[in-house]
Formats: sequence, C-alpha cells, structure tokens
Amino acid sequence: MPPIGLIGLGALGSAIAEKLSAEGVPLGIWNRSPEKTKSMATNGATAYQTIEKLCQESAWVLSCVSDDGAMLQVNRSIANCGNKPEIHISFSSCSPAAVREAAKLAGDNGVQFLNCPILGRPDVVLAGKAGYLMAGEASAATSVEPLFEKLGGSLSNLGTAPDQSAIIKLAMNYFIALTIGGLTEIISTLEHSPTSADAFLNVISKSPAGSPLISLFGGLITNKAFSPPLFGLQLAHKDIGYFADLTMNNTDYFLCSAIKSHMAATNKSRNQPTDWSGLASHLFN
Ligand SMILES: NC(=O)c1ccc[n+]([C@@H]2O[C@H](COP(=O)([O-])OP(=O)(O)OC[C@H]3O[C@@H](n4cnc5c(N)ncnc54)[C@H](OP(=O)(O)O)[C@@H]3O)[C@@H](O)[C@H]2O)c1
Repeated sequence: MPPIGLIGLGALGSAIAEKLSAEGVPLGIWNRSPEKTKSMATNGATAYQTIEKLCQESAWVLSCVSDDGAMLQVNRSIANCGNKPEIHISFSSCSPAAVREAAKLAGDNGVQFLNCPILGRPDVVLAGKAGYLMAGEASAATSVEPLFEKLGGSLSNLGTAPDQSAIIKLAMNYFIALTIGGLTEIISTLEHSPTSADAFLNVISKSPAGSPLISLFGGLITNKAFSPPLFGLQLAHKDIGYFADLTMNNTDYFLCSAIKSHMAATNKSRNQPTDWSGLASHLFN
C-alpha cells in the first residue's frame, strides 16, 4: 500500500489508527489538538504538525472528524496543499449536501474523493467488525480495497455518487433512533405494569422480531446505562438533524420531528455525556 495519513483522532479516528497500526500499516497522523497524537505516536505512527506536511508524505489521506463544518474545513485544507494526496477517504458522518461540496472541491483540485461513513462504534472498528459504506469514483474505490481488507468488517459499495453513502448512513442512524424511541416507550410503560421489561425483552429475543440491536439497546435502556456513552447524543442529534433536513423538516414526518426535539432537549438537560439510548431518559425520572 502507498503511504497513508489519517486526519482526526477522536474516538472513532483513534480506533481506525489503532486497528491499522495493529495490522502493521505505517501511518502518518494529524489532529487539531496535537496532544491526542502522542499516544498513537508511541504505537509507531508518525505525528505531523500540519495537514500540509501530512499530505506531502501521504498518497492516501483518511479523515474522521465530527460534522459537516469540520469535514469541509479539512477538505479545504487538503485542496490547498501544495502536494496533494491522490485519494481522500472521508469516514465522517455528514450530510449529502456537504459531501457533494467536498467531492466537487476535491475533484477540482485533482484529488479523488471517497465518502465512506462507518456503521459501528470504536470497539467494533477495533474488533474488525465495522461496516464501511463506500461511494465515489470506481477506480479509486478499487485501489483502496487492500486498506479495507486490513480494517476487516464489511465493505458495501454504494455507487459512484459520493452522497449515496451519506444518505444510507443517515437512514441507518434514523432507523436505530426509531428503535431506541420505541423501546424506551415500551420499557417505561412495562415498568409501570404488572409484568416487566425483562419479560418483554426475553420474549422478543426468541421471536422473529428480535435482533442484536434490540437486545443491546433494550439492555441499556432497562439498566438506565446512559453514561458513559457508547455513541454520544450530541453526534446522534447531528445525524438525525441531517436526516430531518432530507425530509425538509416537514412535521408530517412526526416521528422524525419528535426524536429530533427530544434529542435536543435531553442534550440540554443532562449534565454529563449521554448515550443516544438516553434520548427519552426523562420518561424514567
Ligand atoms: N463514535 C462513534 O461511535 C461513531 C460511530 C459511527 C460514526 N461516527 C462518526 O464519526 C465521526 C467522528 O466521530 P468521533 O466519535 O471520533 O467524534 P469525536 O470523538 O467527537 O472526535 C471528533 C474529531 O473531530 C476533530 N475536529 C472537530 N472539529 C474539527 C475541525 N474544525 N477541524 C479539524 N478537526 C476537527 C476533533 O479534533 P479535536 O481533538 O481537536 O477536538 C476530533 O479529532 C463523526 O462524524 C461521527 O458521527 C462515530
């Protein structure tokens, strides 16, 4: 594989860096707050002071940052580099509009842009079991296949328009948020009834309606295990906001409006980082 650089060492970016380092892939790294590069540098990665320097040494640049604004800022920095990478793979979960803007800027500057949001938390990435939703130029997507073999998990190729994977990622997170919202109301209701939430979760797990998703979030909600977060409400609220934009914030999509406003309210009211399974935690107060 050619030299690879990674921008963004948050929770998910660090897991990607750790997984690639464990697979023996040499890695250059840059993070906005430089202190986060120190622990990865001790694992053999090379820390760079600027995106410009990272791009000078990298043929493929990966990025994993919080939202549209951060991704576009990183994308502009890459486009402005004297020595540009051949390929930029963006792992951030962003809106389709921002992805289209990033792909255009990259293309205008001779960089092939692949949008590849991730299904799975940092521990799932580390275990090599995450889902990678790839979309972008076919030749670039083929070139980077060896990188995804190192990451493990599943790679879904969703076509040549980069925004396609952004839309599917938002639909996936909206589906999970719907599941969390439904489970919260069921579990809260059953806790005030002569039966129990555990009895319901046990029955559904043995039925065709059961799934690992229902068991995971059913357990978190029953145990009120909302902190520390596995996936924080703040990032989830961002994704549901992007999904709501796709519905033109039409209130006829009443489930989407309700989930978005509950996430916003819970984000404000909780004074500690909260998992998205706590989106309706007020029902348990
Ligand atoms: N965590 C998960 O379970 C998970 C799962 C699937 C998808 N995702 C998605 O993956 C992306 C990253 O998530 P995360 O959990 O790693 O988030 P995080 O822990 O909050 O880290 C955010 C990263 O973005 C960087 N950043 C923010 N604004 C920036 C800017 N303007 N310029 C450059 N860098 C900037 C931060 O740098 P600093 O360190 O300097 O703040 C940090 O490295 C998000 O889009 C998220 O929705 C996350």
